[in-house]
Amino acid sequence: MKKQSLLLASAFLLAVSTVAQPLYDEPYRPQYHFSPATHFMNDPNGLVFFKGIWHLYYQYNPLELVAGHQAWGHAVSTDLLHWKHLPIAIPEMTSGPVTGQIFTGSAVVDNNNTSGFFNGVPGGGLVAIYTLNEPTKEVQNVAYSLDGGTSYIEYKGNPVLDLQNPNFRDPKVFWYAPGHSWIMAVALPRAHQVLFYGSSDLKNWSFLSAFGPAGIEGFQYECPNLFQVPVQGTNDKKWVLVVAINPGAPVGGSINEYFVGNFDGTTFTADDGVARLMDFGKDFYAVQTYNNTPNGEAIAVGWMSNWQYTQDVPTFPWRGVFTVPRFLSLRQNPTQTGAVLVQTPLSLSSLRDKTLFNGATTISPDSPLTISSQGSSSFEFRTTVVGGDKGRLNINIRNGAGEQVTVGVDWDHDGQVYVNRGQTAGFSNPYFTNDFSTWESNLDHSIELHALVDRSVLEVFVDDGVQVCTSSFFMRNGPPTEMQWQAENSTVLVEHLEAYSLKSIWR
Ligand code: FRU
Repeated sequence: MKKQSLLLASAFLLAVSTVAQPLYDEPYRPQYHFSPATHFMNDPNGLVFFKGIWHLYYQYNPLELVAGHQAWGHAVSTDLLHWKHLPIAIPEMTSGPVTGQIFTGSAVVDNNNTSGFFNGVPGGGLVAIYTLNEPTKEVQNVAYSLDGGTSYIEYKGNPVLDLQNPNFRDPKVFWYAPGHSWIMAVALPRAHQVLFYGSSDLKNWSFLSAFGPAGIEGFQYECPNLFQVPVQGTNDKKWVLVVAINPGAPVGGSINEYFVGNFDGTTFTADDGVARLMDFGKDFYAVQTYNNTPNGEAIAVGWMSNWQYTQDVPTFPWRGVFTVPRFLSLRQNPTQTGAVLVQTPLSLSSLRDKTLFNGATTISPDSPLTISSQGSSSFEFRTTVVGGDKGRLNINIRNGAGEQVTVGVDWDHDGQVYVNRGQTAGFSNPYFTNDFSTWESNLDHSIELHALVDRSVLEVFVDDGVQVCTSSFFMRNGPPTEMQWQAENSTVLVEHLEAYSLKSIWR
């Protein structure tokens, strides 16, 4: 059998074997996080808002449950929460003089027809800029859509950038209004550099500057993003450069780091040499921000996995989940130098089903509080807890079979927040490590936590999202159905706690 027909046969088998279990109700399937119906997904791509529609393209292997045959999958939404799947937007190039996989990239709205692709089309259209991963090199290509983003036509002059380099990828393009030009940030992975290029027409690009090596270098840089974010409490905005490193994250494998600074149209200059991490967990990678947002908001989506184990996780018939979209801003943080990125998840209030708890309480070591999720394994809670000089609070998110993921606060150790996913039996892999903790202490004794729990994924936002833990977990004997709040060695005041079960976006 030829390779192609083998792959088709395996895709068919995968489709047939899913019949037993209704799609989107598998035990590990998140209910309000985006995942593809079947097969393998990694990075978010081409995030763009156009004519009232949020487009979500993504790295997709439509043939297997591991990476390969990369194409751009596609989904659309009008509220960033409910997604409709559309056909593959940019397929792998398997025939013709040039072949290659369609790697990560971005999409822009060319409403002034700077590219000339949209002659006679009022309002212009979408242009995708992506890496073509050819057998011997990676080049940057451009394609345009005349049907609102459903399908793309390759630009005949491709590639638009070719360094004859096997590692040169992940262009993030955006409109830089002060310079009336397009700017591209693209990774030179093994050199640990982000290169900036400028263009007036999306076709001809000139080199502007290089950033790096800087921060944590890891093995390579991937998926750079340069964008502006509001500085809280001011009318100012600042520039943030996010770089994905893989492998070589402090927690192992893949992670995003960021630099705060200024971009003058040519050069990005970091305010200081400090690289900060966006997450203290292990499942937040290849984050990308939306282009063309209605009010210039910085809205980010990340891939909730890690290259160290993503191709082995026990989900079926799909692999890959995205975070809930997050609004980004900067806060001057008194306990750190400079500004830190604050991540605020999109409000899920429209998905609220049952109120699981709403009020205040005190938890002492001999009186834990148990909150049932009332039959749902998808819920959220927001709380402000106050501890003393010692003791801990453990919020055990658990099923009825002894498996649990713990979100905790440790006042014995300066109020650090931790996440432990070790008491779960669904997945074992040497890199799927268990314990994560914040890098910043919290000495005022009062801590705000906002957690999103969704069958096999967890997002924890600490103190309004100044520190975030994104984590997958796999409970073999059923997803979580309750929370046990347990105090150790001290009484904990729960000043406020709201918890809601959340409806599925897939039904
Ligand atoms: C990041 C990445 C990118 C690349 C894509 C391939 O996760 O390795 O650098 O474009 O995935 O799927």
